[in-house]
Amino acid sequence: MREQTPVRYDENRKCWDIFRYEDVQYVLKNPKLFSSQRNRANESMLTTDPPKHKQLRDLVNQAFTPRAIEALAPRIQEIADDLLAPHLATGQIQMVHDLATPLPVIVIAELIGVPSSDRERFKEWSDIQVKGAKNDSDEAFQELMVEKAKNHEELSSYFMNIMEQRRVLPEDDLISLLLAAEIDGQKLTDKEIVGFCILLLAAGNETTTNLITNAVRILAEQPQLQQQLREHPEMIQTAVEETLRYYPPIVAIGRVAKETVELGGQTIQAGDQVISWVGSANRDEQKFANADSFIPDRKPNQHMGFGFGIHFCLGAPLARLEGRVVLQTLLSHMDQIQLVPNTPLQPIQSAFVFGVKEYPV
Ligand code: HEM
Repeated sequence: MREQTPVRYDENRKCWDIFRYEDVQYVLKNPKLFSSQRNRANESMLTTDPPKHKQLRDLVNQAFTPRAIEALAPRIQEIADDLLAPHLATGQIQMVHDLATPLPVIVIAELIGVPSSDRERFKEWSDIQVKGAKNDSDEAFQELMVEKAKNHEELSSYFMNIMEQRRVLPEDDLISLLLAAEIDGQKLTDKEIVGFCILLLAAGNETTTNLITNAVRILAEQPQLQQQLREHPEMIQTAVEETLRYYPPIVAIGRVAKETVELGGQTIQAGDQVISWVGSANRDEQKFANADSFIPDRKPNQHMGFGFGIHFCLGAPLARLEGRVVLQTLLSHMDQIQLVPNTPLQPIQSAFVFGVKEYPV
C-alpha cells in the first residue's frame, strides 16, 4: 500500500488512509490543516487544537518532564518486583494480567494521588475507560457508551472529591501540582483538572500495557535478543524504542481535514476523516533501513509510535521508563523467556491498537 496506494480513500469506512512515513508526518505536523477536534462534549488536550491545546499542555507539562519522571524509577522498580515475586516460584506469568496491566495502573494512581485504599475501585474504573464493546453490534456499542458515560461521571466525582481535599491540604501529587499550576495568570479549571486525570487513564494505561507485552513478545519470538540485552544492558532502552517502532501499541491516529489539501496526488476535502497509519510509517523502507528487522540498538530511530508534532505523547518519558524497568527486571530474574507452548494469540479487537489479550510466558 505504501507503494501503490500511499494515500487512498476507503468508500466503506468513509475515510482517507495515509501509509507513507513522509505523508503521515505531514498530517501530524500540520494541525492547521488536520484537526484533532472530535466531540466538544468530552474535550481534552488530545482533542483540542491550538491555541487552547498549548495552554492546557504547557500547564501540565511540568509534571511530565524527563527529570520529574526519572525520579519515579525506584518506585516503579519496587512495583515491578512486587508484581513479579509471586510468579518466580512457578516460573510462569500471565504477562498481560499479572504484570503489564497492573503496573501502569498503580503508577498512574500513585502519580495522580489516589489513596492506596481506593486502588481496587480505581482499577475497575480504569478498566472500563479502555474497555472495548462485547461484539460488533450497534447494541453492544451503545451499551458500552452508556457504561463509559456512567463511569466517567463516577470518576469525575471521585477526582473532584480528592481535589477538594488537596485544595485544603496539598500533597506531593499531580492533583496538588495541577491545582497550583499557573502560567501568565492562567490556571486550570476544576473541570480541566478532572478531565486531564481521566485522560491519563485512557491514554496511558492500555498503551503501556501493550508496550510491555509487545516487548516481551519480541524477546520470546527472537530469543537471541535476551542474551544480547543481558550482555548489553545499555541496549534495553533502545530496544524499548525499537519495540515502539516494530510493534507500536498505537498503529493509527485520526484527524479531520480543515481545508482542501493535496497529498500524494490526491485531493482531500475539508471535513474528510484522515487516518494516519503509524504502524505502516514505522516500517517505511524509505525512512528505515531493514525496516522489517528488529534492531535493538537502532539509531537514529525516529519512529512515530508516540505520534509527532504538538500532540506528541505527553507520557512518553513515563512509558519509556516503565518499559525499561520491566524489561530489566524480567531479564534479570528469568533465564529464558518463552511463550507457553501451543498458546493461540488473540489480538485485541481494535483497528487502532496493536496488542494481544494474553501472553503467558
Ligand atoms: C498522546 C501513544 C503512554 C498520555 C499520545 C499520542 C500517541 C500516544 C500516538 C498522540 C495522539 C495524537 O496525535 O492524536 C502512547 C503510547 C504509550 C503512551 C504508545 C505507551 C507506550 C502514555 C502515558 C501517558 C500518556 C503513560 C500518561 C501518563 C498522553 C497524553 C497525550 C498522549 C496526555 C495527549 C497529548 C496532547 O494531545 O498534546 N500518546 N502513549 N501516554 N499521550 Fe500517550
